[in-house]
Amino acid sequence: MRSLNSILELSVEELDGLIATAKDIIAHPEAYQDKCAHKKLATLFFEPSTRTRLSFEAAMLELGGSVIGFSEASSSSASKGESVADTAKILSCYADIIAMRHPKEGAPFVASLAASIPVINAGDGGHNHPTQTLADLLTISREMGRLDNLTIGLCGDLKYGRTVHSLIEAMSRYSGIRFILISPAELKIPGFIRYNVLERKHIPYTEVSSLDEAMPQLDVLYMTRIQRERFDDPWEYERLKDSYVLDTEKMKLAKERMCVLHPLPRVNEISVKVDDDPRAAYFRQALNGKYMRMALILKLLEEAKQNPAKQPLEVEGLEYDRVCRNPKCITQTEQELPQLFRCTDKAADIHRCIYCEQRA
Ligand code: CP
Repeated sequence: MRSLNSILELSVEELDGLIATAKDIIAHPEAYQDKCAHKKLATLFFEPSTRTRLSFEAAMLELGGSVIGFSEASSSSASKGESVADTAKILSCYADIIAMRHPKEGAPFVASLAASIPVINAGDGGHNHPTQTLADLLTISREMGRLDNLTIGLCGDLKYGRTVHSLIEAMSRYSGIRFILISPAELKIPGFIRYNVLERKHIPYTEVSSLDEAMPQLDVLYMTRIQRERFDDPWEYERLKDSYVLDTEKMKLAKERMCVLHPLPRVNEISVKVDDDPRAAYFRQALNGKYMRMALILKLLEEAKQNPAKQPLEVEGLEYDRVCRNPKCITQTEQELPQLFRCTDKAADIHRCIYCEQRA
């Protein structure tokens, strides 16, 4: 049995397989309408969501299954102090698969260690959002006809934007990918992506602050919202919130054949006037998310049927003698959770928390 915490847990072959399944679902929806009959999805959302939760629910319903769950922590026993691990154990009694969103980084991973059913990370704090990446990959494949040899611009909040982190991890494994990272200095990409992915794999990337400058080079522009809810200082958010606005004038600088993605929700970073541009793919992207979540549910349930045993945590090489200082890490709130670290760079003596990937 397998869960999905990070997009890196899926090989490129598996990603391509999920895309192929999603395309087959689009072409032959009737062939899939009973595939999950008598199966239940639990959507455990401790943080707000429109697309991820409802597309997961629509996905399970269109597969003939049913859905239980909650959409805010206040309506669950988390409000009485129940842990993530206990919640996951309880839901293992009631459902066949869990999709969990949580503001604490690493919370779905903790749930996956405790549950006896597959757990899907539906977004954990500013860390990862692997199923958004599945939607992004299908969208790029359908819009551009390929997933390799692309120049991808990522614009906005690259520090807290979890969708950006997962997308870089995924696209770094395809050939001929180049990134242009467009952000204010305060919102640059975090170390676990810069060093563990881009530098380690020698992926070409440049960092710029001007969207206009990058625009003519891009095959894909991935716009993101400045993540107000992740800022400790509200004044810093006020200062940065209008850093980038994509409008019809900027679209004139872009290639004729390119596409604009956004995980949504948007605030003001894409003018609504851009919506009519055929290159604006973000609403199609939201629909693609449903098909990819259908493909993922099918894959994880099939794997759980073939091999119901839980995958144990691989503890070899982990270190216990440090403390995670990231206030957004699940280790800050989960009772008796062991602090565990992995050395990611021996020469530089860098150790990262296994839950949130921040440096010790
Ligand atoms: N893209 C995304 O995660 O949207 P929601 O927050 O609405 O789920």
